[in-house]
Parts: sequence; C-alpha cells; structure tokens
Amino acid sequence: MTETKIPPLHVQSSGSGTPVLLIHGFPFTSRMWQPQLHGLADTCQILAPDLPGFGDSPAAPPPHTVDALAQACIAVLDAQGIRGPAVVGGLSMGGYIALAIARLYPERLRGLMLLSTRAGADGAEAKANRDKGIATAQEQGPAPAGEGMFPKLLAPGNYAAQPQTAEELKGIMAGATTEGVVMALTAMRDRPDSTPLLSSIRVPTLVVHGEEDQVIPKSEAEAMAAAIPNSQLQLIPNAGHVPNLEQAEKFNEVVAAFIRSVNT
Ligand code: MLT
Repeated sequence: MTETKIPPLHVQSSGSGTPVLLIHGFPFTSRMWQPQLHGLADTCQILAPDLPGFGDSPAAPPPHTVDALAQACIAVLDAQGIRGPAVVGGLSMGGYIALAIARLYPERLRGLMLLSTRAGADGAEAKANRDKGIATAQEQGPAPAGEGMFPKLLAPGNYAAQPQTAEELKGIMAGATTEGVVMALTAMRDRPDSTPLLSSIRVPTLVVHGEEDQVIPKSEAEAMAAAIPNSQLQLIPNAGHVPNLEQAEKFNEVVAAFIRSVNT
C-alpha cells in the first residue's frame, strides 16, 4: 500500500478493462472528465479522482507538492486493487502530477497521456503570480482563481460557439475550495523541472494539445513530444486549454486509439 498523509481521494469511475487514471487541471474537479467517463466506458476503466480540496475530496495537510499529489493518485490505484501498470493521464496541473508519477512510480505506468500541459518548472514571474494567487485565495476565497482563468480556457471562438461548454466550466470551477486553490498553487509553484525526465520515459506516451490553447502554448507540447522517445503528438483543431470538453468526440477518438495501441 502506498503510504500517504493525504486522506483518500473521492473518485468517479466508469467502464472496465485497461485502468486509466485521469487527473484534472486547476481549478477544476473530476467533473471535467464527464465526456470521457461516458464516452470511453466501452474502451477502458476510467478512474477520475478529485484532488484534495476540490470536488468531494477533503483538503490535504502539508507538504503541498506534486510528489505528494502523485502519491495520493497512486493510492487511488492501490485502493482499487490495481497493482499492475495503468495508463496515467493528466491535464495541465494534472500533467505536472502525471510527470511526477512517471518520475517516482515508473513501474506503475503502462502508458502516459500529457494533456494541455508542459514539462518545465515555473520561472520567477510565474512563481510571483502563484504567490499573488495564494494571497488572493486566502483573502477572498477560491472564486478569483477561476474568474482569472476563465477568459483563457477556451479557444477564443468557442465562447460564442459553445456557450454550454463555457457554462459547464463555471460549474466545474465552483467545486474549488480555498484550501484546494492554495494547495494547488503551492504545488505548481514549487514543482521541479520535468524536462530532464522526458528522454528517460519508456512507456508509450500520447501528447494532446488544443491548437488554440491560450494558457500553455502548443510549442510546449511539440517540445515534449520531440523529447519523449515513444511518443505521438495530437493537436486538436478548434480547441483551447480543455480539448476534452471543447472537442470531446475527437479527443475521445484519439485517447481510445492510444489505449487500444498500448494493449497490443
Ligand atoms: C491548469 O490548467 O491546470 C493550470 O492552468 C496550470 C498552470 O497554472 O500552470
């Protein structure tokens, strides 16, 4: 059993077969994976935890690090009795945690999915912005974190083209708590640079990125895919930072093909 001080995470699950852990981004919850929980249930067993202080998971005691979060995610697999390797995917902050899993628990990986994410650590300016975000959350609660991100989450044209996706995102972000936002910003601020890890990743890796991601430029995805030996890059047109919601059908098609390929 993986030792963790983090209380067990609340998990949404669907399907059966190859276990696939999906780790949400910031400041989201497992609800962001609804189209995958429904659309991929015929392909695999999806396990989508709420990170501590988000959705239905309790807050975590310190240390607030991506390594502690990686450990809590591996404990989700343990709790399900999944000892063999699983496919681990994470979107944005979830990708930072997936990379920590690749570093700390390579034996638990059958495949890796790096979704709307990057390998590098925060620079000085990004760290200062995390500090501001932490102070704001402590003073005003969790809402400003989501409000600050909202205008950048979708591809610019999708706010008008997909008002229901924009509304859904607001609903998802309502599941953040102050403790969760402070923990996540702290963990992201202090995360290590995963760039040196990339060339040592041995499992098949799928890198997915929205062509119009305004949070993390697609050049980051291109660089990760170029550095990981057994990887493929899928750029999704008409999608921003949340291609799993903006182009759910295309996203599910790409992920299903990848999961089938790691099983052959
Ligand atoms: C996320 O979408 O998880 C975050 O925007 C990532 C970040 O702030 O670095």
